[in-house]
Amino acid sequence: MTDYFGYAGKTVVVTGAASGMGRALTEILVDLGADVHALDRVESPVAGVATSIIADLGDKASIDAAFAELPTRIDAFFGVAGISGVHNSFLETVTVNFIANKYVTDTYLVDRVAQGGSITFVTSNGGVRWETPAIREELVPFARGDWDDVVRVATELEAEFGSIPGSLGYILSKRLLNYWVAEQVAPLADLRKIRINAVLPAMTVSGMLPEFAEMKGGRDVVEAEVGPAGRLAESVDMARVLAFLGSDLAGYVSGVHLSVDYGMNGLEVAGLRPDRLSWTLRSVLARQAA
Ligand SMILES: NC(=O)c1ccc[n+]([C@@H]2O[C@H](COP(=O)([O-])OP(=O)(O)OC[C@H]3O[C@@H](n4cnc5c(N)ncnc54)[C@H](O)[C@@H]3O)[C@@H](O)[C@H]2O)c1
Repeated sequence: MTDYFGYAGKTVVVTGAASGMGRALTEILVDLGADVHALDRVESPVAGVATSIIADLGDKASIDAAFAELPTRIDAFFGVAGISGVHNSFLETVTVNFIANKYVTDTYLVDRVAQGGSITFVTSNGGVRWETPAIREELVPFARGDWDDVVRVATELEAEFGSIPGSLGYILSKRLLNYWVAEQVAPLADLRKIRINAVLPAMTVSGMLPEFAEMKGGRDVVEAEVGPAGRLAESVDMARVLAFLGSDLAGYVSGVHLSVDYGMNGLEVAGLRPDRLSWTLRSVLARQAA
């Protein structure tokens, strides 16, 4: 049988490999014969991983220590880890969900991802409309400079508007990661034909779901919003799509923002459901401050 995915014997890194989508992805990749290096703030429970590295993506030194243990040649990198922002500060949320992924790409992946390799991030359907000009304009300053520069931009925004909820940090961080994926397509192609893509999940049953349900007013509220799918997504629904995008099957796919939402975003784009996410962060913060 042909190995269409092409993961057998490949070196793969998965962040967030201990729970939810990252764990489901790790199980698939191990099954497909990859050498999977799991990275999470807790031990990955998946049997058969090559290494399970404990690291905090909110801490640059911890990321550096993790990469000192990781292979110097990586075929596929999956940045899945994230936090909801529901019980996290604005800065913590932006740091784990965006700044860490930017830092990992700039500092390590540009050197370590092999010719023709892939980088795939999990962002969110909450990060759609990132490409509209007014929103994109807000994102550009965050995509410049090093870790400290981006922290400074985030800190200055809080200094201007006062404390910003972590939930808004979540939307911002996912918009930023979507923008970042698009921005990196050409440089990574020029470098070594490295592909970069994003998966944008709808609401998914995972370790994070209880926090989203709490924010939205209960699991029943979340269940009522599932749309044409008729059910919440399972973590494995996302893992399957991630496995595809990082694989040889998607060899001509780069710069894609793939909403795995059973058509929910498409319905909004078509005007068949209300568009919930075209607001700029500054417009919301100004309204809150007034
Ligand atoms: N569950 C949803 O409804 C949903 C919807 C859209 C997007 N997402 C995104 O999906 C991704 C995966 O989340 P999930 O839903 O599987 O949730 P999850 O909570 O089950 O998994 C997240 C994993 O990330 C790890 N993690 C969190 N902070 C970390 C840190 N500082 N350092 C290292 N590891 C850390 C956690 O330990 C956990 O294993 C996240 O990026 C999330 O934002 C989730």
